[in-house]
Amino acid sequence: TTVLDFVRYHKDLKGTKIGCREGDCGACTVMVGELVAGEVKYRTMTSCLMPLANAAGKHIVTVEGINPADGSMTPVQQAMVDESGTQCGFCTVGFVMSLTNFCVDDTAKTREMAVSAIDGNICRCTGYKSIERAACRVSEQLAVSSEQFVPNYFGDISDRLTNLAATKVETRPVGSVSFVGGGTDVYVQKPEHMAESDATALLYDEQLRGIRDTGTHIEIGGSATVTDLLVSPVMQSVFPQLYKHLKLVSSTPIRNMATLAGNFVNASPIGDMTVWFLALGAEIDLTGAASILLATPSSGVRTLALKDLYLGYKQLAKQPDEMITAIRFKKPGDDFRFNFEKVCKRTYLDIATVNTAISLAVSSASADAFTITNAHASAGGVGPIPFYLRETSAFLTGKTVSEETITAANEIMQSEISPISDVRGTEAYKRLLLRQLFRAHFVEMFGV
Ligand code: FES
Ligand code: FES
Repeated sequence: TTVLDFVRYHKDLKGTKIGCREGDCGACTVMVGELVAGEVKYRTMTSCLMPLANAAGKHIVTVEGINPADGSMTPVQQAMVDESGTQCGFCTVGFVMSLTNFCVDDTAKTREMAVSAIDGNICRCTGYKSIERAACRVSEQLAVSSEQFVPNYFGDISDRLTNLAATKVETRPVGSVSFVGGGTDVYVQKPEHMAESDATALLYDEQLRGIRDTGTHIEIGGSATVTDLLVSPVMQSVFPQLYKHLKLVSSTPIRNMATLAGNFVNASPIGDMTVWFLALGAEIDLTGAASILLATPSSGVRTLALKDLYLGYKQLAKQPDEMITAIRFKKPGDDFRFNFEKVCKRTYLDIATVNTAISLAVSSASADAFTITNAHASAGGVGPIPFYLRETSAFLTGKTVSEETITAANEIMQSEISPISDVRGTEAYKRLLLRQLFRAHFVEMFGV
């Protein structure tokens, strides 16, 4: 079952609301505390898509868990009231949980980050300005006051989780070759099936986590989430625009849950992270479930270029019992340039109409003359699979960065893609979008 149904129907905690059950509205947002190096770190998650198995050993906080015992309001709740941030109240709990998480997490306590913290929450009544004012007020209060934003018992959670960790919870049903990471795709696509069948929960599997610089490569565990990338010093050092780019991917609670391996295996033709890693020339380790279940991950591993994973629409070069255990890309040198572009009907919290990424290694004879020594380009939303643009990438290698190169590469790219007209746009529109976004890469990377 999901955490949402568990808290509402098994624990009778009805404060957490059901809106879309698709991770889009934030009404079901809860805080999830995890013990990391002796400290409890909290992240928001949409409980409607969170498999209960992922709650094992975690501190799950619903709104009932932050209410002061004396019936008063927390500073966050008070700010929502004072700024008229609640009308029908259906969304309010989600906003309050997101803002409360902001009060206890590691992010900078700025106005911008306070507003970012509520980015997965939708309100149909208040028009957002009042809620934004409440968020800003909370960020200001955090800076100056010693008010209590969560109840005292939060201070005991570290010990309680430590004790709980001693009780091993088995999240791998014997023999199950059905896998679930954060659940953000499978619980949207087939919630009934997921409720009825065994699945091995992988989000918090220690063998599948972590982001490492091996000296020659950056290696990422299959269960790393988009937020893990966002806060990783290794990734931040390689991608100066990481925050700007990853803000375009879904919302905070979904980024907190969605795993890279899940994004790759879902094989959506417009998977943002798939397009991102295709453009890094990434490779993946595929490991048979038997190896994982027997805890001998070094056996039965095969490595595949990510671009070779996609055979056709939702068809993968992967056996049903194989899972992606690691993602690896060559550690870029000083000559590295990368860009990611995405256009959707609204800027944030939306599925791409077209997305594209590019990575280049360049040598420069002078400050404004560059030769491309290596290129990887990708595009989504323009065919049945997320495309690695083989011919375009090959063409770019060895060329100088110039108007002529961009124009010629764009023509080759147009011959590699096969968009269709659908709800997101016509074929002609998608071709034009990719043409413009490809040009945008060069504007962003070189200002040409
Ligand atoms: Fe809408 Fe969960 S019910 S995000
Ligand atoms: Fe009604 Fe937000 S107050 S949906």
